[in-house]
Amino acid sequence: MTTLRAQSGAAAVRTLIVVALVALLGLIVYLARAVSGGPMDFAERGTAPAAGYSGADPTGVPAELAGASLTARGEYLTRAADCEACHTSNGGQRFAGGRAFVLPIGTLFSPNITPDADTGIGSWSDADFLRAVHRGIARDGTRLYPAFPYASYTYLSDNDVAAIKAYLFSLPPVRAVAPANTLAFPFNQRWLMALWSSMFNPDRRFSANAAMSPQWNRGAYVAEALEHCGECHTPRNLLQALNHRKKYAGGTIDGWHAYNITGDKESGVGAWSDSELAQYLSAGHASGHGTAAGPMAEAVDVSLHYLTQADIDALAAYVRSVPAIASSDVPARLAGPAPASHSQGVTAGIDPRGKEIFEGACVGCHGWTGVSPLTPYATLIGARAVNDPSAMNVVQVLLDGERRGNDPADPFMPSFQGAYSDTEIAAVANYVVARFGSQPSKVTPEQVAARRQQARSSGT
Ligand code: HEC
Ligand code: HEC
Ligand code: HEC
Repeated sequence: MTTLRAQSGAAAVRTLIVVALVALLGLIVYLARAVSGGPMDFAERGTAPAAGYSGADPTGVPAELAGASLTARGEYLTRAADCEACHTSNGGQRFAGGRAFVLPIGTLFSPNITPDADTGIGSWSDADFLRAVHRGIARDGTRLYPAFPYASYTYLSDNDVAAIKAYLFSLPPVRAVAPANTLAFPFNQRWLMALWSSMFNPDRRFSANAAMSPQWNRGAYVAEALEHCGECHTPRNLLQALNHRKKYAGGTIDGWHAYNITGDKESGVGAWSDSELAQYLSAGHASGHGTAAGPMAEAVDVSLHYLTQADIDALAAYVRSVPAIASSDVPARLAGPAPASHSQGVTAGIDPRGKEIFEGACVGCHGWTGVSPLTPYATLIGARAVNDPSAMNVVQVLLDGERRGNDPADPFMPSFQGAYSDTEIAAVANYVVARFGSQPSKVTPEQVAARRQQARSSGT
């Protein structure tokens, strides 16, 4: 009798502990969601239910393509969703995967998404594909890492995902197997991503906001479901999910600073005109605001550049509606042109080798004032990168080089990776930021070395 009672007592305690743990987990999930919010939560939803929206359908392709074939519509959407950037390795075939994502926890490689039956996704059904893009679950049921931005793609309509698949399946299959991931324990435990998803993937399709205009709704769909701007420009929480409460306030990606693009007039893009913003998005350059480099240049080249003007305008209008947030890591004021004479201007505290290199290797294209004598693309004045005291992007541009457009006649920034030591790259970066920015930087040779190491591991 006594042992029986003791046993049922122990069972009750166990049940209680399990219930308490489940409740605690539920509370954590609830809090995590509440704290991070949704990407469009900032907008007034008004009193009208979503069904009260009577404007044009914000999903799908622009009007010009409404009558086009399924694959042509899929091509537009695949470009707009920028699948190519992540699923193509440096110099590799489009969509054949193998691009490295170097994370603090190890390296992850993107898989082949060409229609090859053995090494790609050729044997995937529409339902398999839909589940992967909306929920981050592979064909065999394993969980995918959120480096694949399914928490954004979850807002894509089923029809649009089907069109993307039709386009990918219209391309030639490529046999290619991505290298094995090198993630350390416990991060190699894919099932953990099921927990992550329950907290941070809303698994919800886009629904129009009846309180906002049709243009805003289209812009929201393009920005959130397709272009996933927030994946780079919104800061992340400890669990690597986007913190939508600081929407677009600036983030880091692959060693680059993706600046604040909220409406803040000083640290964001609040002082840019509508046409400057639209121009920067479609061409990667706006007069007086520098030129897009690195991950942003890639987004422009393989994705944004292909959007119709109406979609670019909708996107810009949506970005403008995001509430202003001031960032403290970039100065409020952008510096104006530097003195025309090289003997003037800031040099105190800077390795003299910086000026020497600038004079020998840079001034021809960038000028002593920072206003390029050759091309507006190379004008440094007004660029956020040279007004960023971390000088992160300046170092990246120096190591990688940069090229706008595909025309060989287009002006380009050469790579100085092989030409200079870590100390020299640091010196010239600090010189450029001191001369053309509003606050000096203190890049160290060690930081340059770390960036080179990262570039080596990711093969860029
Ligand atoms: C920001 C980078 C990024 C973008 C953009 C991206 N992907 Fe991926 N994708 C990845 C990574 C990384 C993985 C692998 C994740 C893993 O191994 O857990 C992946 C996995 C996948 C898979 C699973 C394949 C398999 O064999 O398991 C599919 C399907 C896929 N992506 C399709 C797409 C499509 C379609 C798009 C565009 C709508 C896209 N991806 C855009 C990074 C990206
Ligand atoms: C893959 C990451 C990535 C994605 C996706 C991305 N950006 Fe960027 N963006 C960056 C980086 C990095 C920079 C800084 C580039 C530089 O210094 O040249 C940048 C710069 C910008 C700037 C210039 C800011 C300034 O102060 O100079 C704007 C505006 C911008 N992005 C808007 C957008 C919008 C809108 C989207 C979505 C359509 C988007 N970006 C998508 C990474 C990204
Ligand atoms: C042959 C001409 C040329 C030379 C030489 C050159 N650059 Fe550039 N640079 C450019 C062009 C063009 C761009 C814009 C490229 C782009 O983003 O597509 C650029 C971009 C930059 C940027 C980024 C500006 C922004 O808008 O964010 C920095 C910083 C920079 N260069 C510094 C240097 C330094 C330092 C040197 C010398 C070590 C140098 N450049 C040499 C042509 C040149």
